[in-house]
Parts: sequence; structure tokens; C-alpha cells
Amino acid sequence: MIELKHVTKTFSSSGSSVHAVKDVSLSIADGEVFGIIGFSGAGKSTLVRCINLLERPESGEVLIDGTDLTKLPEKELREFRKKIGMIFQHFNLMPSRTVYNNIGFALRHSGLSKEEKDKKILSLLELVDLQDKKDAYPSQLSGGQKQRVAIARALANDPRILLCDEATSALDPQTTKSILKLLESVNKKLGITMIIITHQMEVVKDICDKVAVMEHGSVVEEGETIEVFSHPRKPVTKSFIETAGSIGKIYDLIAEDSPITRLAPGQKMYLLTYSTDTTREAIISYVSRTYDVDASVSFGNVEVLKDKPLGKLVVIFSGEEENIEKALKYMQDAGIETEELK
Ligand SMILES: Nc1ncnc2c1ncn2[C@@H]1O[C@H](COP(=O)(O)OP(=O)(O)O)[C@@H](O)[C@H]1O
Ligand SMILES: [Mg+2]
Repeated sequence: MIELKHVTKTFSSSGSSVHAVKDVSLSIADGEVFGIIGFSGAGKSTLVRCINLLERPESGEVLIDGTDLTKLPEKELREFRKKIGMIFQHFNLMPSRTVYNNIGFALRHSGLSKEEKDKKILSLLELVDLQDKKDAYPSQLSGGQKQRVAIARALANDPRILLCDEATSALDPQTTKSILKLLESVNKKLGITMIIITHQMEVVKDICDKVAVMEHGSVVEEGETIEVFSHPRKPVTKSFIETAGSIGKIYDLIAEDSPITRLAPGQKMYLLTYSTDTTREAIISYVSRTYDVDASVSFGNVEVLKDKPLGKLVVIFSGEEENIEKALKYMQDAGIETEELK
């Protein structure tokens, strides 16, 4: 449905230039929830603004249902943009208008009658569960409520695509969860394709079917969320996983020579990563019995990505070196990633 081909955007000012987006190509299917994750300055916002041409790429194509937006005349582009809603980190509501009128403002060029607009606004308020705040002003709302108004406004013209640029970054974890739930239900109920830009691993983990990881203006890794995060290939992706769980701490603990990371002679410490199919099998107890090695789990965590578990365990093996090797080989063949920590 959305296809970006070799999109490039450079900002130039007073002699210096910033390559914000470098030759990015992506395909996003109809109805998908697609995450774009990256640290601050990676080029995520610029890329997403190229999708609705708020930023015009200097080269490349932006195809939506096969139409290249970069080639459309201004008037047709304006029509096309109605298909694309957008929400932001700081909500961008109009402070002097009520909730009702903030949403109504989006319908000013809709051609609907007054009654039709009223009906539409009320149904949107119901969708985002804010019927009782209809006459409130933005200053009287919590952050989560403001974002709900912004979502209702973004959906006013029945878009087929919703772009979410750090939509939960200004919210506390609990409110973030509730906004993600709302976005998920909008995706399911209305079939709207969503692009979720974030620097928060939790957001991608919760609702994205697919994810692209950006760094220095380029997409460095992309695929199914579970695939990308269970077999990360790039350091930037690994560091996102570490920010999400406690497991990244193991590297610090080893560096500090913490007592829980001290090994007796003959022991080896491994980080095991396993996903989906391999999760339920009791592989560790199996290899322990079969190859006569002791396996003690010193810590770990299991993330749930959408509905799929991704487990990470720090395990200390002791036994004959040869047996440990065999046990590791067995686990690797079963799809478990093994990384020797110590
Ligand atoms: N309007 C602009 N003018 C000049 N530089 C910009 C502009 N917008 C973004 N940039 C630069 O482009 C790079 C990418 O920014 P941005 O897309 O906002 O990243 P992200 O959203 O991942 O934090 C940054 O180096 C930023 O400073
Ligand atoms: Mg940004």
C-alpha cells in the first residue's frame, strides 16, 4: 500500500548540510502496524513527514496505492492527504477551541452538513471514549485525554493511513498502554494502516507487526518484529532490546566483577536467546540431563512481542568442557542463540 523508493532528504543551511534521510526504501502492506524505531536524530520524523509530503524528498518516490505523491499537482495532493491522518508527541491541539471544535475543525472542508458533522464528531468521541469531555478545553485535559482528542481529529476524514510520530513519548507508562490499546483497536476495527515512530522499544514490542530500525538516516534492519528482536544483527537494534529489559545489565555486572557473575573453574556463562517455537520446550533441562552438565539460570526475562514470547536467560554451565560444547550445539540446532559472556 505504501511504498517508499530511494527516498532522500537533505537539509541545507548556511553552508552545512544534514543528510536526514538517506536512500530509504520500504514497503508497508494494507492494514499493517509498522514501527520505525531509532534514537533521537536518526531521521524518523523526517522520513514520516516525507510520506505525506510535509517534507518534500529531493529524490525518490512516495507511492500510495501506486500513485507517486511527489508527482501530484498541489490540489490533488491536498485531496490525497485527507487519506493520511497524523498524530504527534505534543498533541498540537488548538487551545482556544473545545474538544468538540478541535475535532470539528478537521471537518471544515469535508462537505458534510452541520448534522452530519455533529454525528461524526459524536461517534469519534465515542470511539476514543471521551463523550463526557466534549465541551472541555485542552488545558482541562490530561495528556492521555489530549492524545485521544488528537486521535479522534486525525480520524475525522476517514483516513486509510495513520502516522504516529512519538505519540506516546510524552505520556507515563500506564497512559502509554491505554493509548496503544486504542491505536490497536482502531487498526483492528477500521483496518487503518499505521506507521508508529518511536524511540521506545516497549511501543514497538506491544503493537507493531513489522519494524524498521533507523540509524543516521538509513534503515539498517527491518522485518517482522519478533524476527528483528530475536535475531538482531545491528548493534543499534541490540541496544534497543537492552533498554527494554533488565538483561542488558549483565554486561555492566560482568564489567564490575559483581559476585553473581563470578565463575568457578570449569564454569561458563552464556546468554541464551530463544523465541516462539523453542520457548515451550524444556530444552535446558533436557540438555542438562542428556549431556551431564549443570545449568543454573542466574537471571533472565521474557518479553512478549505482540503475542509472541522472546526469552533471554543468563545461564552458568558447569561440567566437562566437551559436554558443554555438545549441549550448546544441541541448543543452537534447536534455534536458540547462544552468546558466551564469560
Ligand atoms: N527542518 C530541519 N532543518 C534542518 N535540519 C533538520 C530539520 N529537521 C530535521 N533536521 C535534522 O535531521 C536529522 C534527523 O532529524 P529527525 O528526522 O527529527 O530525527 P528523529 O525524528 O529520528 O529524532 C537531525 O540531525 C535533525 O537535526
Ligand atoms: Mg522525531
